[in-house]
Amino acid sequence: PHPLACLRQLDRIAELAPANAKPLARLLAERRGELRWGQTYSEADFGKGFIDNYGWLEVFGTRGHFVNDEVAAGLLILGPDVVYPDHHHVAEEIYIPLTGGTEWRMGEGGFRTREAGEVIHHASDVSHAMRTGKEPLLALYIWRGGPLAAKSTITGTTVQGKD
Ligand SMILES: [Fe+2]
Repeated sequence: PHPLACLRQLDRIAELAPANAKPLARLLAERRGELRWGQTYSEADFGKGFIDNYGWLEVFGTRGHFVNDEVAAGLLILGPDVVYPDHHHVAEEIYIPLTGGTEWRMGEGGFRTREAGEVIHHASDVSHAMRTGKEPLLALYIWRGGPLAAKSTITGTTVQGKD
């Protein structure tokens, strides 16, 4: 097990999750202390405010509870008022937010609020960013077609700008 500071968000996430995601959110909340949570970034990348409000659980993949060299998937947590700045990676990626209200941006587009259950696809090397509002985010992620444990190339900043 490897707990992280962001796991405190799971109580609120379990309240927010819609009915079809609530069993999973509750399971994560109840069993949070038994799972191996991880972070790709450190405080040097995005600061302590980000690191204390960010983490993932890789269910399968090269770092996963179940080993898979071709596809990685798991769950991402972001606390409220967090900016995950513009970044990109070789692997293509699908996100499905399981809580709504987070703003997502892709390429040169603006931020758009996405609801729980939407499917968000990022093609290989396409820049993307997220920012949460007053509520935390839980999102399912799937990666394939690139190094599955690669650190993203960061081009944005955690400082909130106008967009
Ligand atoms: Fe990504």
